[in-house]
This record gives sequence, C-alpha cells and structure tokens, in this order.
Amino acid sequence: MSESYEKDFPQARLEREGERLVYLDNAATTLKPRAVIDRIKAYYESEVSNVHRGAHELADMGTSNYESARRNVANFINAKSPNEIVFTRGTTEGVNLVANAFGRANIGEGDEIILTELEHHSNIVPWQRLAEEVGAKIKVIPILDSGDLDLAKYDELLSPKTKMVSFLSISNALGVKNKVKQIIEKAKAVGAKTLVDAAQSVSTLKTDVQDWDCDFLVFSGHKLFGPNGIGVLYGKEQLLNELPPYQGGGSMIDEVTFDKTTYLQTPQRYEAGTPNVAGVVGLDAAVSYLQSVGLDSVQSVEEKLVKATVEGLRDIPGLRIFADPEERVNVVSFEIEGAHPSDVGHLLNQQKVAVRTGHHCCQPLMKRLGVPGTVRASFSLYNTEEDVDRLLRAVKKTKEFL
Ligand code: ALA
Repeated sequence: MSESYEKDFPQARLEREGERLVYLDNAATTLKPRAVIDRIKAYYESEVSNVHRGAHELADMGTSNYESARRNVANFINAKSPNEIVFTRGTTEGVNLVANAFGRANIGEGDEIILTELEHHSNIVPWQRLAEEVGAKIKVIPILDSGDLDLAKYDELLSPKTKMVSFLSISNALGVKNKVKQIIEKAKAVGAKTLVDAAQSVSTLKTDVQDWDCDFLVFSGHKLFGPNGIGVLYGKEQLLNELPPYQGGGSMIDEVTFDKTTYLQTPQRYEAGTPNVAGVVGLDAAVSYLQSVGLDSVQSVEEKLVKATVEGLRDIPGLRIFADPEERVNVVSFEIEGAHPSDVGHLLNQQKVAVRTGHHCCQPLMKRLGVPGTVRASFSLYNTEEDVDRLLRAVKKTKEFL
C-alpha cells in the first residue's frame, strides 16, 4: 500500500551509511513530494516576480498563481470565500495574529481565555502575553488519565466571561484527537469565539471550517507536505474585516497620508509587505498533491502503522506508552522506563531511526504526565510496515543496551 506513496517523496529513500533512514518525525515536519520540490524550483527558475504590484507579464502571472493558490486552499478547508484565507509564516504567526488583532480589540480586564492542557507553546504564549497586557485570565481544560480532554471540566470553565476558546485538533505530543465540533458548540453557547490549531491534523483529517463553524483556524505548510515559512490563517470574513491590522506596511493600505492611513479589506489587510510567493505556490502544489492522493489514503496508512506500533511497543516489557485516548492519530509517544528520552533518541538515531524526543513544545503537558519528555514516533503517508519493524527492533536493542 504505502509503497506507492514512498516513491513520490525523494527523501523517503534516503540512506545513511548504507542503510535506509527511517523517518518517523513527521509531527515535527513532513517530507516533501517531488511535485512540491519541482513547483518551487520552477518558480525560482522562470517565474520570479513580486505580486499585486508591477506592470509586466511575470508580475501578472505571479499574482494570478498566488490568488489561485488562495482559492485552492479555501476549497481544501471548505472556506466560504478566498477572502477568508490569509497567508502567514505558519501556525505560530497565525495564533499571534489572532491574539493581537482580535485579542487586543475584544478581550479586556477580567475576561477569560480557555486553552487546553494539550496545547503547544505556540497556542499558550501569545494568549498569556495578551492576558498579562489586558488583565485577562487563562483557564485550562485538563486532560483525563487517558489523554482525552475532561469535557465535564470544560463545561465548568465556560461562562459569559469566556471570550476565546483556542485549542488544537490533534495533539502533536500524544496524538490525542479532540472533539472539535463539540468544543466549538459549547464555546458558541456562551458567546465565545474559537480558534482551532489544525497544525497536526491538516495533513490527515478533513478540515471543514463551515462544518466546524470555528471563527479562526491556523496551520503550517511544512506539516502538510509543503515548504517551510508558509502557513494559513482562516478567519470568518466579516470578523477579519472588523479587526485592526496586525502589521503595517505595503500592500495592506488603501490610502496613506502622514496624518492617517486607511486599510484594505481581508486578506490584503493582513498581508503587509512582499509575501512568500515561492512558499505559496509550493503550498498550492502540496494541497493539490494531497487532494490527488486523498485524505482517506493518508488515514488508512497512518491508522495501520500507529496500531502496529502501539501493539508492538506494548509487547516490550519496561515500556510506557503515553495516553490511551479514544482516538490516537499519527503519533505514538513512549518512554523506556528509567531511561532519559534523549538517550533513547540518540541510540535510535544510531540505528538510523529518526524520532523526536523531549517536551515537544508542550512543557505544561509534560508536567501533567510527570516526565521531562517522551520519545515520539510520528507517521505519515510514505511510512511503511518495514519502518514500524525497524523502530520496534531498534527500541528492543536500545532497551538491552541501556
Ligand atoms: N510542533 C512541532 C513538533 O511537534 C515542531 O515537533
């Protein structure tokens, strides 16, 4: 099955010292398909130009490709209009943009922002900075021992003071899948706005912003088989048009005088300066690649490999798998009891198995688990059963060694 996708990703066959490197660090960043690499190369070889400015053929083509990418992304996440798609540097910038533009205008003294114990630092720190500035409070939905969110506790935290509920759809550290629609429905019932951090889910779950009815959603291109340094902020059009800009500069203005500046509507309002055109056309190619493969194919590969990994690790004594959620997606986090995760990662690396170790930018979650970090194997489309076998063999050998 996965053989047919492995061939699309040149790096999936990378060898080191005569052995194939098993890449199981997909939650940190995915490999790139040939289609994306070729698209970026074509841009730099024969399409370089700026967009939304210039009076020549290449500038027109650049603008047309850039805006076509916006339509493709809008269609991919089922946005109502391309105007709801703002290109950013990535998930982190998207959250910072919302915390600044929405937060400063709508969250004040005594208001509350609800996050979850599963969050990545990128969905904690921007809100914390805002809360400190305006005198708001952060409330946190805890996890159960299974790793799932304690939604009964969420009910208790919600109140008319809640102005924002910002949460991830899949945990990058544990693979826990959240009940996105349910969380949003409850937030809306108290009049709060919602932001979904879809960084970890966008390459595997259907993202449907209309069905979810979130106010904002963010993700990164690099976790979606696309390039680094490009990401997407989705926001409801009316909301984006009401908010103040995040950054000022060229391309986002209507008229500038030294007395006053007026601004364009979304999405230009939020895209000050020359954008990452190569990143946008690369992201467009990544989205098209994923659409041609189908999310069902990604899910069926990942589900099979995650199941085999969990079963295989459970057979090894002295190992702890973190969390036992209702649904675990593309990530398996574990520890070898008594061994520091970074030592395990080092020994796996020597056996040409690439994983991430540490806190995965989720220090509060690690604190809840009572560990400094975990060893995390994360899977994607091009991984194979042989990769799982290599991981399991390497873990057993590491355990004997330690
Ligand atoms: N957020 C990325 C990870 O989980 C970098 O590794």
